[in-house]
Amino acid sequence: MKLKTALDQIIKEAFSQAGIEAAPMAVTEAGKPEFGDYQFNGAMALAKQLGKPPRQIATEIVERIDTTGMISKTEIAGPGFINLWVDPAWIEERLQEAGVDKRLSVQTKSDSIKTVVDYSSPNMAKQMHVGHLRSTIIGDTLARLFTFLGDEVIRQNHIGDWGTQFGMLIAYLEVSGEDAYSSLGDLEQFYKDAKVKFDSDPDFADMAREYVVKLQGGDSHCQTLWQQFIDVSLGHCEAVYETLGIALHREDVRAESSYNNALPSVVEKLQTQGILTESDGAQCVFMEGSEVPLIIRKRDGGFLYATTDLAAIWHRVHELGAKRISYVVDARQAGHFKQVFDAARRAGFVGDDVLLEHVSFGMMLDKSGRPFKTRDGGTVKLIDLLDEAVARAKAMIEERDTQAIEDRESVARIIGIGAVKYAELSVNRESNYIFDWDKMLSFEGNTSLYLQYAYARIQSIFRKYDGSIGGTITLQDPLEVRLGLMLLRFEDVLHGAARESMPHYISSYLYDLTTLFMKFYEQNPILKEEVSDAVRESRLLLADLTARTIKQGLALLGIEVLDRL
Ligand code: ARG
Repeated sequence: MKLKTALDQIIKEAFSQAGIEAAPMAVTEAGKPEFGDYQFNGAMALAKQLGKPPRQIATEIVERIDTTGMISKTEIAGPGFINLWVDPAWIEERLQEAGVDKRLSVQTKSDSIKTVVDYSSPNMAKQMHVGHLRSTIIGDTLARLFTFLGDEVIRQNHIGDWGTQFGMLIAYLEVSGEDAYSSLGDLEQFYKDAKVKFDSDPDFADMAREYVVKLQGGDSHCQTLWQQFIDVSLGHCEAVYETLGIALHREDVRAESSYNNALPSVVEKLQTQGILTESDGAQCVFMEGSEVPLIIRKRDGGFLYATTDLAAIWHRVHELGAKRISYVVDARQAGHFKQVFDAARRAGFVGDDVLLEHVSFGMMLDKSGRPFKTRDGGTVKLIDLLDEAVARAKAMIEERDTQAIEDRESVARIIGIGAVKYAELSVNRESNYIFDWDKMLSFEGNTSLYLQYAYARIQSIFRKYDGSIGGTITLQDPLEVRLGLMLLRFEDVLHGAARESMPHYISSYLYDLTTLFMKFYEQNPILKEEVSDAVRESRLLLADLTARTIKQGLALLGIEVLDRL
């Protein structure tokens, strides 16, 4: 149920009946229960425009608000705040509808679009690092969310598989004499060793340089070595996707190298638009108010990361038909994307009907607040990190001893991987976040385990209750009304999260919902004998809706639930 849209509409109608001609303004959720469920604070802003005191405007609006349907009560507070209460009977009806709807009454958008989500996008020369982990988890959530809300999502794994370092790497692959699979077991080490040789052995350095030229010229031997290298490196990434349960596959890979042939025409197009300037022999795009240009072509004729991104934008807009492109990349690349988006717009690659957004995120820090590294300062192997998550979850399960032995492996995976993902998705992506095992694997606080536990607890109510659920929802007290309204907010939350690409809106909501449910469950017994059948059925329906909302919400975050915990 889109509560806010419905409320906005009611206000809009009151406006027109009161003869107020003003741009529609939105209602917001009330800060405290005594201020109602929602608030409309537009009267203050209108005072100047209409030349009337805000309280008078508020009165004129309130008198015309329809209180025969969704809204049951209004009130003017302070200088002109309008407080709104949603009618419990209306909530009951909407809950009843959601109860029999597979999608919990969440509608798909009427204006479905094609959306590209560029995420994960690791570099093949090196080990995938924690920055890519964040991108992978956030991006996958957005892809699921957009899909759920009705957009046609095209996943793009823009892997870095091109550039001068590949000359060195394939030359080293050749001289090391082993096959790619055995020598690339530890990519980080391989890169380091190659670099040492490159820096210390001039003959090797010459060979590396020669291999870059050959590779870029299409030499088949070099291409074969390169292809092997990419295959093995991508295989490492896919092992991480597999463990994480990420829906990225080979067909979603659209590598940097795939844009090679399009690069000269990017330069040409920019030239035609007259936005290229030569500077120090390089072809550049200068931005207003900035002295640092975006380099499109180097003095030696080479293309850059930005050139490829412009080619990719062209492809996404003109060949894939995207109307929104979301780049899930760490905050350090903010300057790059700002410049690339600006150049793409000025060059006419992208019209006003296309949204380009950098879904940026902060760093992952260790418990002491330092960038996440191994003890000796190296890159943490993601697969090891995920294995540790599962191992820790397993140890925890064994200690609790509540799971059948044969289920422990899969339960540990669901808990451990869920915890890593949720820790990531429960903070505002723009801030840095602290990776803390104890916190993320806790049953208390805003964690996946807290939600999974609540879900399992509700399932256990249903296991104990022998009967089928049905009947009607009748909200008994203010707490039940609040829970009911909270359940109905799900759709608004999802649309808000999708609009702003903010997965933590979903997790915050799920946490609030679960906390409220736990409170409700403590105060309002369900299975106890003294509870009447009608009330029991109503409460069971609320419990069922809560469980399904948790399950659906977590599914969008790529996290599974468990029937027992
Ligand atoms: N490969 C890049 C990196 O690891 C990220 C690519 C992001 N996507 C893009 N279209 N530039 O930093």
